Amino acid sequence: MKKTIILCWLFLVIMAGCKGNRAEPVYEFKYQDANVPEKKEDSWPQVRFAVISDPHTYDPSLGTEGEAFEEYLKHDRKLLAESERILGEAFTLIRDSGVIFVIVPGDLTKDGATVSHMMFADYMARLEKAGIEVYVVPGNHDMVNTHAVKFDSEKTIPVEHVVRDSFKKIYKDLGYDKAIMEDEHSVSYVAEPVPGLWLLALDSAITTNNIAEDYPNTDGEFNHKTAAWIEDVLINARMEGKAVIPFFHHALVPHWEGQEKLHPEYILNGYQQMQALFAHYGVKMVFTGHYHAQDVAKVSLEDGNWVYDIMTGSLVTYPCPIRYIEIQADNMVRITSDFVTTIPDFEGDFESYARDTVFDGVYTIAMETIMGYRVNEPRAEYISKRVASAYLSHYRGDENPQGDEASFSKKGMGLMGRLVINNQSYVLEGLWKDTDGADNELTIDLNTGEWK
Ligand SMILES: [Fe+2]
Ligand SMILES: [Fe+2]
Repeated sequence: MKKTIILCWLFLVIMAGCKGNRAEPVYEFKYQDANVPEKKEDSWPQVRFAVISDPHTYDPSLGTEGEAFEEYLKHDRKLLAESERILGEAFTLIRDSGVIFVIVPGDLTKDGATVSHMMFADYMARLEKAGIEVYVVPGNHDMVNTHAVKFDSEKTIPVEHVVRDSFKKIYKDLGYDKAIMEDEHSVSYVAEPVPGLWLLALDSAITTNNIAEDYPNTDGEFNHKTAAWIEDVLINARMEGKAVIPFFHHALVPHWEGQEKLHPEYILNGYQQMQALFAHYGVKMVFTGHYHAQDVAKVSLEDGNWVYDIMTGSLVTYPCPIRYIEIQADNMVRITSDFVTTIPDFEGDFESYARDTVFDGVYTIAMETIMGYRVNEPRAEYISKRVASAYLSHYRGDENPQGDEASFSKKGMGLMGRLVINNQSYVLEGLWKDTDGADNELTIDLNTGEWK
């Protein structure tokens, strides 16, 4: 009996993980105790723009076959071998969409290889040539990433990766040369794509220990000096009467109930302080990526302020989305979504292939984890299938569970099966329950914060 209790306790500790103990930055913002310009009504310029996120561009010259590449793909949900063709298709859709500019909130490449960055920049340069301005920021994969490798049969070989200076150089035409302000302590900048609108392009990647740890840090935050710079920009925007739209890689708002427990590294460290800062200065919406999900989440703060975090899914993860944002008269924002559903020279139905890739990826990882806890195969299959369906629905957005698929049945599950279910029910329920705001098609009223 005692042995069973110890086993169960150990299991619960392992499954719960220790991710809740991250170190949060503590910022001291001027607005908290000094005289800074008061909030006032925004006037929003009418404009139409696009968002693509997490394109994870992968130059095929780095290898798309062989044992090492196949092995890598087993644990990755991204359509890497198809990334260039998806990007090409997205280019055509955006070029013909009537937008003025495009923002890309990070993870521009698979793992920061210089050749992949050059390829992404080349496609974006084509949009610029077509008269559409592009603005990028880095994600956790894009700079100082020692996982930049090429796949050669059964082995991987390190290739040149991008660091802060080379990132700015490669993207000089796609942000930095158009900047009206730049932060000295990150690769963040401000641009004014149309008169009256400031894009606050923010670098939330933490690369300090990437080399020492030989791992690209998944967490994100703004260092203290960058956070202070952000506040100064927001004060200037107030004084000059500019509307501000920040965009960055990590989420400002948790996108499902339980995400902070399971995946805190996908939410900005210090996110509540940043929510309060943005809201104080009249920011109404931010654009993020990183979790590869089409999800809109709204936070309503105690002082009556609110902010929307409009997260865009990954271009190389089902449903391969592109968002269009139209700020209309009367401060109404119309958000629509389009999807890459075909790519050139693809045999079969690309959309089904993209969907199955995500499902199989999540399923495989879930099976390995659950079987590791000695749950027998049919029981592990049942749990893993439900988990994979829940992730698929979250990535696609507008979650709408059918029948009982948002819950587990414990019937015939055995001790370890029941333990897994007890411990992981919150994930299934959380992923299926949509947060405030439709995800793919909605209109937000910037005056009131209501959406429909
Ligand atoms: Fe990503
Ligand atoms: Fe990311």
